[in-house]
Amino acid sequence: MIKNKHSLKSFNTFGIDVIAEKFCSVSDTESLIYLLNTKPVKIHILGGGSNILLTKDLEGLVVHINLKGIEVCEKSKNFSKVKVGAGENWHDFVMWAINNNLGGLENLSLIPGNVGAAPIQNIGAYGVEQKDIFYSCEILNLKTLTIETLTKNECEFSYRNSIFKSKLKDKFIILNVTYCLTNSNHNINNSYADIENEIIKNKINSPTIRNISDAVISIRKSKLPDPKKIGNCGSFFKNPVVDKKKFEHLVKEFPNIPNFTTDDNRIKISAAWLIEKAGFRGKRYNNHGVHKNQALVLVNYGGASGKDILKLSKLIQKTVSVIFGVNLEREVNIF
Ligand code: EPU
Repeated sequence: MIKNKHSLKSFNTFGIDVIAEKFCSVSDTESLIYLLNTKPVKIHILGGGSNILLTKDLEGLVVHINLKGIEVCEKSKNFSKVKVGAGENWHDFVMWAINNNLGGLENLSLIPGNVGAAPIQNIGAYGVEQKDIFYSCEILNLKTLTIETLTKNECEFSYRNSIFKSKLKDKFIILNVTYCLTNSNHNINNSYADIENEIIKNKINSPTIRNISDAVISIRKSKLPDPKKIGNCGSFFKNPVVDKKKFEHLVKEFPNIPNFTTDDNRIKISAAWLIEKAGFRGKRYNNHGVHKNQALVLVNYGGASGKDILKLSKLIQKTVSVIFGVNLEREVNIF
């Protein structure tokens, strides 16, 4: 059913109160195709709303993708292929996998948002990215309204990036994703220092996927604000990647800058550190600000507008650029 003048406050984790001119939540592909066949002039696709900043009322039709279902579609000795509807909550899916002893998702516990958004920005945390277990996805071509399948290679995944943010941007809707999970002999990834420390603290010798998931949940809860209590979108910026020459300049001046070498031999530096050193960590401006435990996270304490938060993000970008000569790129999409 199409609703007129519908508030999107409960449909975005920043909790920004803007109005959609028209709004419709769809639970099956047929209804989605039917709706798109009516040729709406302007359309916005909404998933879990955990990676968007709404800065104004939205004209046209907002389609909320509520496609559900988790199904093991193929099972071999070592692997299970699991097909998940784009509208499933990501963390609920991770918990389903852990409860069924299927491995590969545990490091990605407690990431806000829905399954359909996971491939778009190739979500990642604690040494794992969703591309590591991604098998394929079904997408709806917005021009032809036909369903196509994309393989992992075709999605061109990289750090917080995919083909859905470049060539296919706004051309397709992700309907479901198939992940390839391990049935046993799980690849336990506790290489990330925070996880290792948590496992040692809990005196666990050979961690299971549930132990890893519990560790990740505990770390995230200690650092990142719960969007149900304080509006936020997780990391607002990406960690910038610079070439070796630029990094050598930086490290001469700032020897403590946290850094990691990437696969292509460039240097990823911590955006949170840059923002903290620029003086923004824990800074509050009336009803919005920068989280005290993680400087990458901008927060809405209640009643902030998207414009307020966007303005703050621009001030942070400018200040970091002046001090360090590094450009911070947004991870969050602005509407
Ligand atoms: N740090 C600071 N100040 C801070 C926070 C962190 O200086 O306020 C420094 C510390 O040196 C720390 C390092 O930054 O050791 C890394 O911090 P953290 O482990 O929190 O990771 P991150 O690089 O800041 C990324 C992801 C997070 C993900 C964590 C854990 C991006 C943009 N963010 O953050 O993803 O949970 O790693 O793997 O890559 C998200 O995308 O919404 C998100 C939360």
